[in-house]
Amino acid sequence: MNGVFITFEGVEGSGKTTQLRLVADFLKGLGRDVVVTREPGGTPLAERIRRLLMENSDETMSPLAELFLYEAARAQHVNTLILPALQRGAVVLCDRFADSTTAYQGAGRRLDPAVVTRLNRLAAGEAWPFHTYVFDLCAAEGLRRARDRGSDDRMMQESLAFHDRIREEFLSLAREEQDRITMIDAARPVERIQEELRRHICGLPFMAR
Ligand code: TMP
Repeated sequence: MNGVFITFEGVEGSGKTTQLRLVADFLKGLGRDVVVTREPGGTPLAERIRRLLMENSDETMSPLAELFLYEAARAQHVNTLILPALQRGAVVLCDRFADSTTAYQGAGRRLDPAVVTRLNRLAAGEAWPFHTYVFDLCAAEGLRRARDRGSDDRMMQESLAFHDRIREEFLSLAREEQDRITMIDAARPVERIQEELRRHICGLPFMAR
């Protein structure tokens, strides 16, 4: 595959979506074919699954049902959008991917990590991120920022302890996979973070092509 797959991860309110859009503008300005997408979502069917996952409902969703829905959305997204884009040589920037499942469903919901890893690999297939940026921020501050911008979906109803476990899992993934994952201190101003990202991306091998 000629393209490059880059993912943006982090706790709620960490600013990854803003940074992803700025990176996309930067790369498009350099004449690159850039595809911006997100999980859950990215295709009409996966966006419908997203709505099921985000909405608050009287019926509690079982952790396993939740895991399957994220993976179902991913399988659809990978096969109909991500892989074709990578095959034609695009830079695919994805807002969350399988590391979010490891953090939220694995550490957050405490599902068996081996099951989560297996399903992540199955749903992602050939589309494994070449590089990942994890935006790190204390969970309480992230939740405050997310609430300030009006976010109140299902995950936002969870306890601070749940969101702390997710942050810790992202940190431990970054320690375990230092070649793939770059930690970004998300407590800094938007411009400073963007500068660091652009510098880092310019050093990735695909930029020499
Ligand atoms: P977003 O608010 O960054 O768009 O992310 C959507 C929500 O879905 C967020 O609360 C994190 C959650 N999520 C999971 O729990 N597991 C996953 O695999 C993914 C991709 C997202």
